[in-house]
Parts: sequence; C-alpha cells; structure tokens
Amino acid sequence: MPIPDSFLDELVSRTDILDLVGGYVRLTKHSGGSMFGLCPFHGEKTPSFAVNPDKQIFHCFGCGKGGGVINFIREIENVQFRDAVEILARRAGMTVPETGADNELADKRRRMLELNREAARHFHEMLSTPQAKTAREYLTKRGISKSMVTRFGIGAAPESWNLLLEAMAKKGYSRSELIQSGLAKPGSKDGSAYDVFRDRLIFPVIDTRGGVIGFSGRILGDGEPKYLNSPETLVFNKRRNLFALNIAKKTKSGMLILVEGNIDVVALHQAGFDNAVASLGTSLTAEQAQLMSRHVSRVTIAYDSDQGGRTAVMRAIPILEKTGMNVKVIDMGDAKDPDEYLKKHSADAFRILLERSDNHIDYRLTAIMQGHDLSSDDGRLSYLKNATDLLSDLKSAPEREVYGARVAAIAKVSPEAVKNEVAKKLTMKKSRQRKEFEQQVVRPAAAIQPEDRALRYSNEYSAAAEEGVIRSLVRDPGLMKTAQAMDFTVDEFTSEFLAGIYETLSRRISENRDTNAALLMSQLERHEASQLTIILQKPEAGSNSEQTYREYIGKIRTEKLKTTAPDETTLLEIAKIKSKKER
Ligand code: CTP
Ligand code: MN
Repeated sequence: MPIPDSFLDELVSRTDILDLVGGYVRLTKHSGGSMFGLCPFHGEKTPSFAVNPDKQIFHCFGCGKGGGVINFIREIENVQFRDAVEILARRAGMTVPETGADNELADKRRRMLELNREAARHFHEMLSTPQAKTAREYLTKRGISKSMVTRFGIGAAPESWNLLLEAMAKKGYSRSELIQSGLAKPGSKDGSAYDVFRDRLIFPVIDTRGGVIGFSGRILGDGEPKYLNSPETLVFNKRRNLFALNIAKKTKSGMLILVEGNIDVVALHQAGFDNAVASLGTSLTAEQAQLMSRHVSRVTIAYDSDQGGRTAVMRAIPILEKTGMNVKVIDMGDAKDPDEYLKKHSADAFRILLERSDNHIDYRLTAIMQGHDLSSDDGRLSYLKNATDLLSDLKSAPEREVYGARVAAIAKVSPEAVKNEVAKKLTMKKSRQRKEFEQQVVRPAAAIQPEDRALRYSNEYSAAAEEGVIRSLVRDPGLMKTAQAMDFTVDEFTSEFLAGIYETLSRRISENRDTNAALLMSQLERHEASQLTIILQKPEAGSNSEQTYREYIGKIRTEKLKTTAPDETTLLEIAKIKSKKER
C-alpha cells in the first residue's frame, strides 16, 4: 500500500515550496530567511505565515499549522495523503507508482460505491411500489414535489428485515459486503444479517465527485432517531461531507445556505434556492467548513429557531469564519425552520430575509440580550459584561463604535462607558497575546507541550532533550555516529512520537538518504507535522553541535535515572560513593 520512499523523496525534492505556496498565498515580506504572507488556514490581517525555502517547510505563528509540501497540499486542498501526492506528482510531471495492496483498497472502494449506487436505485424504485405507500403519503404531506424526488434521488425503505439484502444478493453482493457498507447488520444467528434502513424515507448522500457514499434515512413522521445515517465506512466520512453539496456546489450565487434537516434542504431547493446544504448529523466540523469554502466565499446559516439551533449557530460561526468566509445568520422569527418559513410565508419573503440577514455580530448581540433580564440593574450589568466581551473581539474600530453605541442604548449607559470598558478589555487581550507569544518564541521550554493531546510529553525535561537530539540530527546527520558511540538507542526516548521520528531518521541515515525536514514531514499527520516544524525551528541550545548533542543524550539519561526507582546495583554504587566521601 505505501508509496515507495524513493518516489516521495524525488517528488518532494522536485517541488519547491516557495513556488507551490506562492500559487495560493501572496508572499511579500522577507524576514530572517523566511517569506511571510497571510495565513490561508486562519483569518488574519497581518502576515504570520512563514515559508522557509532553506528547510522547505511552512509554519504559521498564528494558528500553529506547519509542515512540508505534502502537508501543505493536504491542508489547503483538504485531501488525504494519497491525493496530495497525486496532485504534486501531476504538477511535477511524475506518475505515482501503482502498488498491489493499493489496487486492492481502491477496488474495495469502487465496489462499495457501486453497491451504494445499486442500493440507491433500489430505494428509489421501491418508492413507487405498494409497500411504500406511507413514504409516498409522507412526501405529499411535506409538499415535496416529484421533480425534487428525482433531483435528490429520494427513495423508500419499506418495513422489512431483508428487502435490500435480497435485492442486492440478486445483483451479486454478499451479506458481508452489505454489512461493510453499513447497509446491513449481522444478526444473532451465525452468518445472518438484516437491513439497517427500514420504514424510512431515504436520502442518498452523494459527494462532490458524484459517488453515492452513504444514506440518511428519515423516520416517516415523529419518533427517534429522526435521522439514521450510514456509519463510517471505507467511502463515508460524516465529518468531511455535506448533504446536497453535490448539487449546491454548482450554484452561481457565490453563497451556501447551511440548514439542519434534509427536508429543509429539499424545501429550499424546491423554492428555487439551489445552494442549500446540511451537515450529516454531526455538529458542523472544521473539515466541512473548509469544504464549503472551496466552492463559495459566503455562507448564511439558517438553523432551526429553537434553543438547540441557536446554540449550534454560536458554535458554527467561529468555525466558518476561520476559513475566511463571510458569515451571516438568518432569523426566521416565528417559523421553526426554513421549511416552515417557506410554507408560512413565501420564497420571496425568504429571499428578502437572505438579503437582509444579520451579520453574525447582530445575531450574537441579540442572543446575549435575550439571555438577560434588562429590567434589573444586575441584568443590565451582566449583559454589559457579555456584550463588551464580544465587542472587544471585533477587529475594526468603526465596528466597535457602531455596535458599542447600540449596546450602550440597550444597557442604558453612556456610549463612553461602553467604549472605555471595551478599550480596557482590548488592552488586556493584547497583553495576554504578547505573553503567549513570548512564552512560545522567547522561552521555548515553557511552551514545550504539543498542541495535540495525543502527542503530549510525559516528561517535559527529557522531551526537550529528545527534541534536541532530533533537531541536531536533521542539521548534521553525521552525529548519528556519536549516538552509536554512546550506545544511545531509540528505547531511551520517553515520547513515542519523537521516538518514531528518530527511527525514521536513523533509517534514512543508515541508508545514506537525505534527511531534510520536508522529507521527514511528508508522511506525518497534520498535528505531527506541525509539531515537528515547531521543534525544528527552536533555537539550538549550544553552538558546538557535537557537544550539545552529547549533552542532550546526557540529559535524557539523567532524567531517566530520576524517574526510575534505583535498582540494587545502583544503590550499592551510591553507598560506595557515600562511604568514600565520608572517609
Ligand atoms: N440530522 C441528522 N442526520 C442528518 C440530518 C440531520 O442526525 N443526516 C439531525 C440534525 O443534526 C438536526 C435534526 O436531525 O438535529 C434535523 O433537523 P430538523 O430540521 O428537525 O429535520 P427535518 O427533517 O427538517 O425535520 P422537521 O420536518 O421536523 O423540521
Ligand atoms: Mn426542519
């Protein structure tokens, strides 16, 4: 399955990171051997995204993302390792070698997509049979038109334990294939299985490449769960897909409408809004936001008007904003969701709502207001506290001024009072940020713990030295001889993550292959690559690399002695030393 290292090495060395990143980011400022630009992974106004052409790595001092060329493509194109390699290979005029196991996995995926397509066809055909009478009645009741049924490929799973299993068996798909694709579950009897989707309206989930990757089954009427979704499979990842994006991505509006329910999506499309999508039963993920931002630059949230919906909006706003999209929120007043709004009012009314939809500052301020009793002094004070918190997050002074005046009027205080409070909070925030910066850059040891919990160091002192071992080796592979002379082995690492990198390094060095940062990075996952970037950028403790390197190993060993209970021989040694001293 893996792509040969030699191929990756050549690919990485043929790709210049400045060229590559330059295609996405305007790199302007030059400082300390790096080029800087605005980070494409988080919204910012001053450049903190650095590309280092010597090390062939990138690093954002704002959001912490970092890595080599492959990590960059994975991140910016939102693709898996394999696809990133494909993209870079195409760019470099190289062909990715096919490997046996690779074909096997690709074959499995292809077969699963075919099965899903057959199943979607089956569900769709079932919709016009007598067994699907209730499903048809439900569609009528919800006012969903024939043409929407066709556009979305809506289908029905009648009440039966094995209709799909049997229909697919006729097409040559085995029970285990249905189980693996999440369409069936194993029964209590050996080798038996039953249909997962029963007595539900079926929405196929289709990705932007047109593949049927999974299904959402909605209950016919009330009941729990309202939606049953396919589990994660070889081809289905809920966090990385959105319902109806395959259709909405073609919109000319430059905008997406994000709603909660599949029924809302369909109702909106039926009313002429070709840009509605929904997440697949998870709350909105960063991956989904990233995916949306690849097709549009604006998004309007139209979640349900209930408390759950409001909470979800507050959660979704920062996630969407991080991608740089312009975010707005619709307030549907007395209607519980877009479907109901369209029925109570009209498509034109919804269009006006869309055009006028609040920017999220308005929305959030209103939400804060609704949470307080403004008739009491206490209520007004606590409103003021929360509202000024939000105001101090706003980036532009005019915005702070305009909304500040509004907050002042609501809290019945002078605009100056609000202005002063916001100014105070801004100063506090700035000094906190400066402190964080100092901790990260000026005193690296204080901020040694990796962001990702999975990579956490159990012994920070040892880990700092382990990082040093790796940094030194990348700089000077010849030091591997020193390690061998000192009988230093990978088992002495306390951090598994760092041990893994050390192993890769020693393998590369023993095979006489290049050990530059970009190569080491290419196969690491996102957090790992970011962490390694940070490690490699830390300043070296000493100027003599050989001596510093010895000191790092020494430090790892003394740390180990501190944490392990002394064994008998050590105790004897200590006793000997002591008695010598006393003599
Ligand atoms: N949901 C889900 N799986 C999906 C789609 C939605 O679990 N594939 C969840 C959403 O997270 C949300 C709810 O189910 O909490 C759907 O929202 P809702 O608007 O109530 O669904 P509708 O089908 O529009 O139902 P209704 O007609 O009652 O509005
Ligand atoms: Mn709804």
